[in-house]
Amino acid sequence: MHEDRKTAKPAILFLCLGNICRSPLAEGAARAAFAKAGIDAVLDSAGTGDWHVGRAPDARAQAEARRRGVDISDLRARQLSVDDFYRFDLILAADATNLRDARAMRPADATAELRLMLDRLPGRGGQGVTDPYYGADDGFAATWDDVNAIAAALVDEFAPSSG
Ligand code: 4NP
Repeated sequence: MHEDRKTAKPAILFLCLGNICRSPLAEGAARAAFAKAGIDAVLDSAGTGDWHVGRAPDARAQAEARRRGVDISDLRARQLSVDDFYRFDLILAADATNLRDARAMRPADATAELRLMLDRLPGRGGQGVTDPYYGADDGFAATWDDVNAIAAALVDEFAPSSG
């Protein structure tokens, strides 16, 4: 498996706390953007916490994705595992807390690069994608706008012609 990692399709894991709001929205936006661009990629999401393992995305996240033309209803929450640090090229954390928690479990010989999602957007580096979980429903629209811009940046980055 490992020998395929760099030569074959890019493998990107989106990480947040619960894996029911931000990271499944990021996975959904990325799946749509990579498919539209015709780029074959392994795209997945996980949470640092285990409270929602096995659950579908938050109903408000599903509704926002559906409103943008993307169905994320089949995604199921899972917790970040040590294996993920070898299976993915890139692990993108939604905020500084997720990044810190992931760093704490990152093996010394991990092959995955670990960064913030918004480090992919000029002028937004170091920022966190706002957690809409405890806020009003319209927070999910802002979250979608962020993760959709991140997905577009990743498509540019991993497009075969861009090297
Ligand atoms: P997420 O949002 O990390 O974007 O999936 C959250 C989901 C659940 C909780 C917090 C944030 N929670 O505390 O249960």
